[in-house]
Amino acid sequence: MLKENVVKSPINVLILAAGLGTRMKSDQAKVLHKIGSHPLIAHVLRTAAQLDPENIFVVVGHQAEKVEELSLASLDAASAEKLRFVLQAEQKGTGHAVKCAVEALKQARGLLLVFYGDTPAVKAETLRELIAEHERGHRAATLITIRIENPPTYGRIIRDAKGDFLKIIEERDCTPAERAITELNPGFYCFDIPALLEALEKLTPHNAQNEYYLTDVPQLMLEAGLPVGAVLHEDSGELDGINTRAELAAMWKRLRRETLDRLMAAGVTIVDPETIYIDGTVEIGRDTIIHPQVIIEGNSRIGGNCEIHSWSHLTNVDIGDGCRVLNSCVLVDCKLTARNSVGPFAHLRMKAELAEEAVVGNFVEVKKSKLGRRTKSMHLAYLGDATLGDRVNIGAGTITCNYDGKQKHETIIEDDVKIGSDTMLVAPVTVGRGSVSGAGSVITKDVPPDSLVAGVPAQVKKKLKE
Ligand code: UD1
Ligand code: CA
Repeated sequence: MLKENVVKSPINVLILAAGLGTRMKSDQAKVLHKIGSHPLIAHVLRTAAQLDPENIFVVVGHQAEKVEELSLASLDAASAEKLRFVLQAEQKGTGHAVKCAVEALKQARGLLLVFYGDTPAVKAETLRELIAEHERGHRAATLITIRIENPPTYGRIIRDAKGDFLKIIEERDCTPAERAITELNPGFYCFDIPALLEALEKLTPHNAQNEYYLTDVPQLMLEAGLPVGAVLHEDSGELDGINTRAELAAMWKRLRRETLDRLMAAGVTIVDPETIYIDGTVEIGRDTIIHPQVIIEGNSRIGGNCEIHSWSHLTNVDIGDGCRVLNSCVLVDCKLTARNSVGPFAHLRMKAELAEEAVVGNFVEVKKSKLGRRTKSMHLAYLGDATLGDRVNIGAGTITCNYDGKQKHETIIEDDVKIGSDTMLVAPVTVGRGSVSGAGSVITKDVPPDSLVAGVPAQVKKKLKE
């Protein structure tokens, strides 16, 4: 397809997200349900932001505060500034939802793209094509249609004998003959704003649900003598709206597959696509291998030549090149710089950071701590609120006693220190560079550099170097 999608008018987007979603059988607003670690609203907002619109209007209603909070959190600062929330206190239909935004829309320039917050798979390219098609046709409204042989409960597209668009009829309002129509409305519309505002004034709720239907707007425009067009989109699955939990699960499968295909095309080995769960927001470098049953979520970045082994769960991680995460690790909000090895059974969280070639082994928890270059903690340790220098070795069973019941305290372990097995570091405490602690030491006082400490509580026994 060589159509050029050069868009001239400023773009505004309006997303309808006020409904509860009765068919989800949930106390939670539909757009808050998640696919991967992101709510539905985040998926559509990120796609909308790719169009570089002037404004992104979001009509909120059910759990408005939560929807607003997660909307803001889903975008970078520049895009989040474009969000304009409009409250629809009572849900009287999709047309009513757009009516609630009238005052805000009067301030907007250019054209308006409207779609629903429950369609997370839509691609920015499809929306760009719709806008380009709208501009080419100089219309008051352009909408996308799809074709499905056994039509779901979507609005039916009615065309005249020449094949020109006439109107949309909601499934509930269809005659049996209309219900048999396989060209459907997936709910993506591009409008000329003044024409939309005029048509909204004429909307009535005379239908099976006594609601104001946005789907009546194109017909009202035609009746006013304005041009309306409808273009068929081949991939109907991309535009699916989610109404039930089963559709939610099917959509997650589709989006996962898209992400895995993108990663594999970029040179990542995905050992078993059926069991690997990776959010669309994740970036992974080439020649990295992801083993079965791995979950990678959030804003995670993994470099090249890494290996992530089975049953590990990574959330918001920043992992450099050549790192290995062994089986059954939990990594949250942490950074591996390069050539690090972690696990099996390690837990890194709250800005844990490993410098180049640092190693964290079996049953080690690292919280809000930094490990310097080539520093190792191989077995059974808790490192919390600690800063470790380069080439430090932490013996098995070592614990930073960082919490006195009221406050957290810091531990500093300088370069080239060797902490013996089962050492308790009672923070705040500093162990000077080159020092060694004997097995089972309880260190309650700062240790000067190049000292051997041992005992309970540990005492300086002798100077190792003068
Ligand atoms: C809608 C379309 C239908 C289309 C289908 C595609 C209408 C009247 N019908 O039906 O033609 O085939 O989508 O998925 O538009 N919402 C509000 N406020 C309201 C009502 C709905 O914000 O008062 C929001 C919902 O949160 C949801 C979206 O609009 O995100 C769509 O609502 P929904 O009830 O799912 O519409 P459908 O019945 O699926
Ligand atoms: Ca729907």
